[in-house]
Amino acid sequence: MSIYGDYIKSVIRTVPDWPQSGVNFRDITPLLQNRAAFRKLVDSFVHRYQEMDIDAVAAIDARGFIVGAPLAYELGCSFVPVRKKGKLPFRTISETYTLEYGEAEVELHSDAFRQSDRILIVDDLIATGGTMLAAAKLISRSGGHVVETATIVDLPDLGGSQRIREAGYGVFAVCS
Ligand code: PRP
Ligand code: HPA
Repeated sequence: MSIYGDYIKSVIRTVPDWPQSGVNFRDITPLLQNRAAFRKLVDSFVHRYQEMDIDAVAAIDARGFIVGAPLAYELGCSFVPVRKKGKLPFRTISETYTLEYGEAEVELHSDAFRQSDRILIVDDLIATGGTMLAAAKLISRSGGHVVETATIVDLPDLGGSQRIREAGYGVFAVCS
């Protein structure tokens, strides 16, 4: 848990039975609407990473962009989008991962950063961990050093963060 973890958790809304029956969806929009909470959210990431010599924040399409851009700005580093398949126009490398039903793919531009750059990966939420792990593998395959993976919300009961740690990547969550 981070410095403002309890507070951030208190402004995330749970929507029952969305997008399907039995799912408790953790909705971050009330947090984004609340100017004090949004600032504390970005500050939580800045506080953790400001002394870690991050070269680039790689943020995952789409909700990862919401925190990734202000964080890169505050850290004074580059911003790298990790996008869903078919969105990036230049040469890409991709990583496929498994969803509950079927497969998905994330992509990265082949010139997104320099070899051995220190990369922080951010997203809004870790559920099964499939998306974050695919992004981490993509960055590693491209020659980047994944300093850590970071999320606003971890859902530990789904085992995603454990899976990411078992693959050798650190996980930081503002709240669980
Ligand atoms: C959600 C969320 C994470 C991912 C978490 O993204 O923003 O990226 O799922 O799930 P996982 O840990 O099981 O992989 P979604 O694919 O819904 O995309 P969006 O950000 O475009 O809404
Ligand atoms: N909230 C937001 N995004 C998600 C969730 C959730 O509960 N589960 C998987 N992606």
